[in-house]
Amino acid sequence: MNTPPRQLRESLAEYRSGWSLPQPFYTDPEIFALDRKHIWGKYWLYAGVVSEIPKPGDYFIYALGPDSVVIIRGDKGEVYAHHNSCRHRGSLVCLEERGHATTLVCPYHQWVFQKNGSLHTARLMPKDFDKKSHGLKPVHVQVVEGVIFISLSDNPPAFDKVAEDYARFLKPFRFESSKVALRERFELNTNWKLITENFRECYHCGPVHPEYCRAVIGANLTEAVDPTLNERMPEWADRGLETRNVQFEGSSFHLAVRYPLRPGVESYSLDGKAVSIPMGDHKDHNAGVTGLCMYPNFWMDAVSDYAWTMRVTPVAATRCIVDVMWLVDGKAVEGVDYDPKRVAEFWQITGGQDWDLCVNNLKGVQTSGYVPGPYSPGEVDLVKFADWYIDRMREVVTAEVIA
Ligand code: FES
Ligand code: FE
Repeated sequence: MNTPPRQLRESLAEYRSGWSLPQPFYTDPEIFALDRKHIWGKYWLYAGVVSEIPKPGDYFIYALGPDSVVIIRGDKGEVYAHHNSCRHRGSLVCLEERGHATTLVCPYHQWVFQKNGSLHTARLMPKDFDKKSHGLKPVHVQVVEGVIFISLSDNPPAFDKVAEDYARFLKPFRFESSKVALRERFELNTNWKLITENFRECYHCGPVHPEYCRAVIGANLTEAVDPTLNERMPEWADRGLETRNVQFEGSSFHLAVRYPLRPGVESYSLDGKAVSIPMGDHKDHNAGVTGLCMYPNFWMDAVSDYAWTMRVTPVAATRCIVDVMWLVDGKAVEGVDYDPKRVAEFWQITGGQDWDLCVNNLKGVQTSGYVPGPYSPGEVDLVKFADWYIDRMREVVTAEVIA
């Protein structure tokens, strides 16, 4: 029987719904180890999009703390995810973050694995060696309209509802044939929950994000959105664009919403003008914003002409890697239909403002003067997130006690 750390039990007892979390949830290494095991090791994680690996044998690695997952395209376009650990003596098999391989060859003693993970050859092993039971250990993978999710759990949470909801919102973008305009990676001294909190509220948008507020009506929380929304909704529905928004509720862990840009604004851009040709099935620049979020690591904000995705990966209680990607239509020609600098600049500026907020937030939370504070009415999604997280941690206490 394990004993949950005293810190966890005390912090759970201290938590009050409607207030930010007690300090150890943002800073304590033991609680972070439980986060890693019970949330990051269990829930579905956004890995990337299939257009990053267009050809059979194309692969990329998603490194999550000590874990390393190879995501590789199979011969018929299928997507496999394997633990990047050789079944001989455990060496990493793929050493590069991205690459192409007809077969995956372990650099240590050259065991050779197929794209589907099965062991193809194991040199100098006895004739009766059982190759069948020494394939790469599989990782659960789900592909929804070209977007790849994995779970490190042997028994991940049900994904049907997420897949169904996300498919309706994602389909028009045709991510399977999209094109990466730019990728950027940031390492931030912050806790992953502070990033989640920051990206679930717009209480800070008015004072901090002038560019974002120029693009999105109501982002400053002082303007009425409903007149614009009521005008756009029927237009979107008429054109077959999904308008049945999905909010976080109870134990659910995904959100999918459509909301309007400011009238006259075509895209997330500094001048409000389009920055690329409409993506996928979109015929114009009037689809508003498709916003997706899935705990604990996925955000997508997609406008008619590009999608911005954010993949958060914690490496310690107080450190995260943030991978950001900008995707445009697969037929868009760089230099003709789009300029990567122009596609990226809106979120480079807005994201940069957010990174500073998240880092400063942790610095203040780490001080001896920190006490949990009240969420504002504009931060209702943070109450939902904090409650969701605390419920998961309460489950941890039960699970660790009976383990
Ligand atoms: Fe991979 Fe030996 S560890 S072949
Ligand atoms: Fe922000």
